[in-house]
Amino acid sequence: SKTNLNPFEEIKSTYAEQLKKVDSHIKLKLSSHVELVGEMATHLMKTGGKRLRPLLTICSSEIFNYKGDRHINLAACVELIHNATLLHDDVIDNSLSRRGFKTTNAIWGNKSSILAGDYLLSRCFEMMVDDGSEEILKILSSVSSEIAQGEILQLQFEKQVDMVEKNYLDIISAKTASLFGASMRVGGCINNRSKKEKEALESFGRNLGICFQITDDILDYSAKEKVFGKKIGNDFLEGKITLPIILLFQKSNKIERQMINKFFSQDMRNQNDFNKTLDLIDKYKIIEICKKRADYFSNVAADSLSIFEKNFTVEKLQELSFYIVNRLN
Ligand code: IPE
Ligand code: IPE
Ligand code: MG
Ligand code: MG
Repeated sequence: SKTNLNPFEEIKSTYAEQLKKVDSHIKLKLSSHVELVGEMATHLMKTGGKRLRPLLTICSSEIFNYKGDRHINLAACVELIHNATLLHDDVIDNSLSRRGFKTTNAIWGNKSSILAGDYLLSRCFEMMVDDGSEEILKILSSVSSEIAQGEILQLQFEKQVDMVEKNYLDIISAKTASLFGASMRVGGCINNRSKKEKEALESFGRNLGICFQITDDILDYSAKEKVFGKKIGNDFLEGKITLPIILLFQKSNKIERQMINKFFSQDMRNQNDFNKTLDLIDKYKIIEICKKRADYFSNVAADSLSIFEKNFTVEKLQELSFYIVNRLN
């Protein structure tokens, strides 16, 4: 029985066979005569990840009972874009752990990681061209530039504690939600759905993505490292301003603001600074407020799918959007 599975696990087990095909397709496409490339690709595949984005492409195809096999290649494409981004992101963020393992940059260094990210992205472009749809090529290539712009925008706001929530939403829409949106939209494309339906699929993905990133940013202040698979407090230590800090700064009194300002004007922050910040986050119930923000986007995501006839996949995706807010990794 599947009754004790959460919506994510349930979707994952329902489409396990297709996900397996996606993984073998990626493995096949990443093969290379360069030994180090092969080693890094193997590390990436072995350490896994949730495979959430390819799952969205599969689900979005399954809503319409898709019978072909283009969705496997396209799901592999979105997962490759995601992994390329992470390889670059972990260098930028100085992250040493991901998915419960050492990062590629921690093992092979920054240079290799950047090049491996480029390799994944260029392989992905070859696979997009293989698919042959100009519409999809356009969607996935513009998503790739949107992600890059989101990461750059984020860099621009580094250590700016008085940044407004709108700036944060712009950043996460670009760096995270865009790929979630595209992962959903391509399922509509290969089923030749109407513009309105493709918009609805993309809207689901984008709002789910915003919700997903808000949750990731909450987890960076509240997760159990063993379950999360990444080091806690990294955003704070790196001076990355996310929703918990934005809201904390807004709620704090003058003296507390001075302290937060001091932390983020330093070149480096330490564990002691982080602990003091955690106390304030607790005092003002910041995590609860952040979760309410995420709840809002869950609802928008779920409502986006209301134009479709209800079926198993539509319902599971809607459940997934509510589950995401309470995810632990
Ligand atoms: C990590 O994404 C990057 C964010 C958008 C927060 P995931 O949490 O989906 O990464 P994996 O693939 O499951 O490791
Ligand atoms: C992930 O952002 C990178 C992109 C979505 C482009 P984060 O830096 O917040 O994700 P983690 O915490 O490293 O997984
Ligand atoms: Mg990061
Ligand atoms: Mg993060």
